[in-house]
Formats: sequence, C-alpha cells, structure tokens
Amino acid sequence: MRLRDALYARVFVTVPVYDILYEDSEVDGVVLDVDGDSDVLSIGAAGCGVAGLARFRPRSIDVVDINPHHLALAALKLQAVTDLEDHAALIDLFARPRPSSLDRVAALARRLPDPIAAYWSSSRRRSLLTHGLTARMLGVLRAASFVDEAWLRAQAMATPEQRRLALEDRIMPVLRNPVVSRLLTSPLQLLALGINFQQRDRLVAAQGAPLQFIEDHLRRLAGTDLTTNWFAWYAVTGGYDVTTPDAMPPFLRADSHARSLGWRGARRFTHGSILTTLERARPGQYSHVTLCDAPDWMSDKQQETLLQGIRRSTRPGATVLVRSVEAEPWVERHAAGRTLQWDQEASSWATRQDRSRQYNRVDVYRRAASL
Ligand SMILES: C[S@@+](CC[C@H](N)C(=O)[O-])C[C@H]1O[C@@H](n2cnc3c(N)ncnc32)[C@H](O)[C@@H]1O
Repeated sequence: MRLRDALYARVFVTVPVYDILYEDSEVDGVVLDVDGDSDVLSIGAAGCGVAGLARFRPRSIDVVDINPHHLALAALKLQAVTDLEDHAALIDLFARPRPSSLDRVAALARRLPDPIAAYWSSSRRRSLLTHGLTARMLGVLRAASFVDEAWLRAQAMATPEQRRLALEDRIMPVLRNPVVSRLLTSPLQLLALGINFQQRDRLVAAQGAPLQFIEDHLRRLAGTDLTTNWFAWYAVTGGYDVTTPDAMPPFLRADSHARSLGWRGARRFTHGSILTTLERARPGQYSHVTLCDAPDWMSDKQQETLLQGIRRSTRPGATVLVRSVEAEPWVERHAAGRTLQWDQEASSWATRQDRSRQYNRVDVYRRAASL
C-alpha cells in the first residue's frame, strides 16, 4: 500500500465517517438470495446492509470492518432489528434520530459483545449516531443550496427537464463556487466521501475529474424515482421519508423487521481487515461474501490476496458481491479471480437498479465448483 493510502487509513479509522450505507441494500437482498443455510461474511460499513440480512435468518453473519465506529454501528443496527420489538422505536432510532431515542442504545448495546457494549456506553458516542462525517458534509451543502423536503417532493413530481433545471439552479452553482470546489477536491472531502487515493485514481481513470464525477452523480440520482430514493432523501432532508416504506432501506421496513425479530443465528464482529478474516477462516466456511467497494481501496497485490482468501474460504456456488467505480471488472485482472464466475444477468440488473447511483459496477460472482 502506498504511503498516502496508509496515512489515509490511519485517519479514516479514527472517524465515524458513515451513519448510513450508501449502497442499495434492497438490491443486495435480491441478488444474494440468503437463506437459513447461509453463512455470510460482510463488511460492516454503517450496517444498513448487515441489519437487512437478518430478515433472511441465515445460520451466521460475520461482520468485519477496519473502522471501529462503523463496526459498532453495524452491530447496533443488527441487534436493534432482532431485539427491539417496537417498530416505531426502530424508526425513531435510525430513520430520524432524536436525543430522546438515544437512551435505547445503551439498553440494546448491553447485549452486544464487550468491546462493542463498551463503545456504546459513552453518551458522546451515542450522540454520534447521526453525525458521521458524510452526514455533516451533506448538511453543509444542503444549507448552502437552500434545499429541503418541500423542494425534494416538488422534484419527485417534476419532469426530467424541470429536474435538470432545478439542479442547475440550486445545487450546481454551490458546487462550482471556488471555495466549495476546492473543499470538494481536498483530502478532507475524500475522507468524508470514504474515497481513498487509490480509489480516487481509479475513479478518475474511469469517469474523469472528481468534480465532474460529483455533478454527473447528482444528474444520475435526479434521474431515479425520487419518491423511493432514500439516498436523495437523506442528502436533502437529513433523514428518510418514514411515511413511505419503500423509501427506507429494508432493515427499517415493518415487514422486514417482523421477519428479523427474534433471529438468533450466530453473529461475530471483528475489528480489522477482511484480508485477515479470510486468512483465518475455515476452508469452505462462507456461502456469501459481501465486499462493498473495499477492493477499490486495495492495491493490485491486496486484491489478489483477497481473491485467494475468498477462493479458500468459500464453498462451491458461494455468492460474492462487490461494487466498484471502475469501468471494467477488476476481478478479471487476477489469476485467483478465475475461480469466480461473473453472473452477467444479476450484475447488469443490480448495476441498473442500485438507487445510490454511486458505482459504475455492482458485480455478482458465483464461486466455481472446481478450482
Ligand atoms: C469502502 S467503504 C465505502 C462504503 C460505501 N462506498 C458507502 O458509501 O457507504 C465501506 C467500508 O469498508 C470498510 N473497509 C475498507 N477497507 C476494508 C478492509 N480491508 N477490511 C474491512 N473493512 C474495510 C470501511 O471502514 C467502511 O466502513
């Protein structure tokens, strides 16, 4: 790993960057096809995806993350969907958190493994539930653009041309302001977006300059169904539209919560790199591995190690899910990637459907039966 990314990682792990997962966990639920025989290894990120898996009642979920804040949040969300009986309380905690609902965190966290229970015993940390770095950055841009819930609801009803004009009128001038654009291309902003230098270079190679990417991303978002796009809602309002179930990630929906309640499958939370977790895993341990876009952060050598770890620790037919900013699938650059067969139909569908519109690719692989 190059020095600048080693430094990036050292800072990144000290900060709660995300409080939500900026990936479409509804899409993941479809392509992963988890069931009672599944043993899942997943990167924690902010936990919306991990918590959503409880509704499929797998045999086990192993969660790993290099960022202890993200790991603790993932553990809390998973605990909440399985143990908090009151659906309204779940919504209060994660869809529109307020200080009064944070008391529940301490009670939930007491049932978590010691290091994570200790993490949540601090009231300062509980108040961080809604204050990840990305959320703060979005809050600043929201205030500078004078957008709010009413503006978003109006956009949801508008024609594509009206939306394009609204973006040009309200948001693009803010992004193009010299002070804001300098901030948006600074290392601080890379940290707020969870993009390290390696991934930034891959992004630039595939999609052009970072500012251009941000503008294009907003245009892609504006082209989605804004009534159910919870990422747009979170960016513009700081919360979700709790009146519309499909406008929240699955783990918060009443039907999914009902299916998750009481799930008692094995769950383990590991602070560290997924490379180490895979190295320590039993041969054939996992039926599913979900990587977020973490491989984009890795050097080519680390990607090769990752794929060797996946080859060793997954069983035939296992599913691997990964997002990437790259135009071409990185798995295919690697010798160890030959064990994974690209599921073209599922990948194309998932890439088209992911409402976050952040990635060039959402790729689904199935582990070949023979090595
Ligand atoms: C790569 S980040 C980006 C997530 C996604 N782009 C988003 O916007 O929500 C996802 C998570 O991966 C974690 N992560 C990155 N590299 C990792 C690694 N090698 N092992 C485990 N977790 C890792 C980060 O700490 C973060 O929580």
